[in-house]
Amino acid sequence: MYGLAAGAGNRQVMKSMDRLKGKVAIIVGATSGIGEAMTNLFAQEGAKVVFTGRREELGKKIEADVRARGGEATFRRVDANSEAELEALADFTAEKYGKIDILCNNAGILISNEFTQIDLEKDFDATIATNLRSQFAMCKHTIPYMIRNGGGSIVNTASIGAFFAMPFQVSYAASKAGVKQMTRSLAIAYADKNIRVNCICPGLTHSGMEKSGDAFDNAVLPLVPVKRAAQPIEMAYGALYLASDEASYTTGHDLIMTGGLGLQ
Ligand SMILES: NC(=O)c1ccc[n+]([C@@H]2O[C@H](COP(=O)([O-])OP(=O)(O)OC[C@H]3O[C@@H](n4cnc5c(N)ncnc54)[C@H](OP(=O)(O)O)[C@@H]3O)[C@@H](O)[C@H]2O)c1
Repeated sequence: MYGLAAGAGNRQVMKSMDRLKGKVAIIVGATSGIGEAMTNLFAQEGAKVVFTGRREELGKKIEADVRARGGEATFRRVDANSEAELEALADFTAEKYGKIDILCNNAGILISNEFTQIDLEKDFDATIATNLRSQFAMCKHTIPYMIRNGGGSIVNTASIGAFFAMPFQVSYAASKAGVKQMTRSLAIAYADKNIRVNCICPGLTHSGMEKSGDAFDNAVLPLVPVKRAAQPIEMAYGALYLASDEASYTTGHDLIMTGGLGLQ
């Protein structure tokens, strides 16, 4: 296959190769966009998936659709800003399946503002809580299960904003740079426990956060060398590689997927 089938959106477009057969995966922030695509793809590739978000109706529909296709996915309503709910998510998954092999930390929000107009609570604190603190907390509560299981793979969602300036999304850029450095630090901290920790760094991707034709899309799209935004499934394939045993010698890596944005 060359390129992406038109309208591929959040669904897998290639034949399943059972790349995650027998694995148990948690995907945090998966009721739309990139996380939804990860849920569909990981289940298609044989994983038992527990996925989350706050929008229960969407979560239940994704769960039903995956099951209708013969996959295994369970939706849990979890507020990523609550450490207690994240801890309960790790406990629930380990109890249900006996182990946790894969954790994808993907919940995120993007707030645009001129810097001096930023409300520290509604913008900065909320962004750090959802984009960085939730990943920190989920790693904290999942790693003990991975150690007990002899290893695991963590894939955090950072962003091109971890590398490049975002003058109207300063809180977001700071949160994603934090994700990148947390990822590297945990990769070293748990290398000897056979736990790999990597991150994906999406560029412009059409999702719940970035819609075709909105102001951010209009500003960034002309700068993208491949002249289009990504579909969520293209980001999910990057996460799939890092989550799978195919990436067994890869840890602390930032997988930048931007259609060439940022290279020049
Ligand atoms: N789209 C892009 O261009 C782009 C580029 C770089 C990085 N990213 C990153 O990719 C990740 C996925 O974003 P997306 O583009 O796919 O956007 P999206 O469609 O809006 O998905 C965001 C997901 O995060 C969840 N979420 C947000 N706040 C939450 C909270 N407090 N508790 C639980 N879940 C929460 C949402 O679920 P509920 O609303 O149901 O809670 C949703 O499932 C984010 O980390 C984002 O920063 C996206």
